[in-house]
Amino acid sequence: MLHANTPAQSAAAPPSTQGLFITFEGIDGAGKSTHIAAVADWFAGQGRAVVSTREPGGTPLAEQIRALALRQDMDALTEALLMFAARREHLAQVIAPALAAGKVVLCDRFTDATFAYQGGGRGFAWQTLRALERMVQAADSLPAAAGRGARVLQPDLTLWFDLPPAVAARRLSGARAPDKFEAQPQTFFEAVRAGYVRRQRENPRRFARIDANQTLQAVAQAVEQVVAQAHPPRAA
Ligand SMILES: Nc1ncnc2c1ncn2[C@@H]1O[C@H](COP(=O)(O)OP(=O)(O)OP(=O)(O)O)[C@@H](O)[C@H]1O
Ligand SMILES: [Mg+2]
Repeated sequence: MLHANTPAQSAAAPPSTQGLFITFEGIDGAGKSTHIAAVADWFAGQGRAVVSTREPGGTPLAEQIRALALRQDMDALTEALLMFAARREHLAQVIAPALAAGKVVLCDRFTDATFAYQGGGRGFAWQTLRALERMVQAADSLPAAAGRGARVLQPDLTLWFDLPPAVAARRLSGARAPDKFEAQPQTFFEAVRAGYVRRQRENPRRFARIDANQTLQAVAQAVEQVVAQAHPPRAA
């Protein structure tokens, strides 16, 4: 269960530790959900407060938007606006207050997924998504300290689980009833992957590509290595 701090609580005393925002990205079946729990344990083991959440969703209202956006066919701009509307709610209610309070926020998909799916997969205008990103993630519209000095709140680290779509499809086969994105043909996921490639090129500092086409154990090791290198445990 997630608990968002009220803005009053967040503003009361500056946290002794800086918040940390890590996102998990990749096509459906790439392994995002599988590895989030281990990363949560890794930070909790260092005494950090951890919030694990997901997009679209993460608040009751945003989960309602998720149900609409993932189940119904709609105009591409409508879809992009719904994704960002859900994100805004999630940022304002959960992510930004947690970051302002010095917590570690682990999010299963974030804005890179919108660029990959709506931009790469659906071919929707990249520049329009950029404009929505700047508006929805504007640090001065969120609790102080959440943006940590940036104008646009972004993840500190993004783990991109890169897996050939054919392998992902095999891993998912029979796992559950597909939503409207999961039901897309493989060519769609190739386009989504190209969207992630572009996002990595545009954000090389925070993006870490994880080769997800390995055993679960090897992927878990790669994940821990990247996280530990980016955010080494502090000496006690
Ligand atoms: N390295 C791996 N080797 C084999 N199977 C794996 C590996 N990693 C994950 N799996 C399995 O693949 C399936 C998909 O993994 P997971 O649910 O973590 O993907 P996901 O990225 O969260 O997908 P979605 O976007 O659909 O939520 C699961 O059944 C999981 O157990
Ligand atoms: Mg998942």
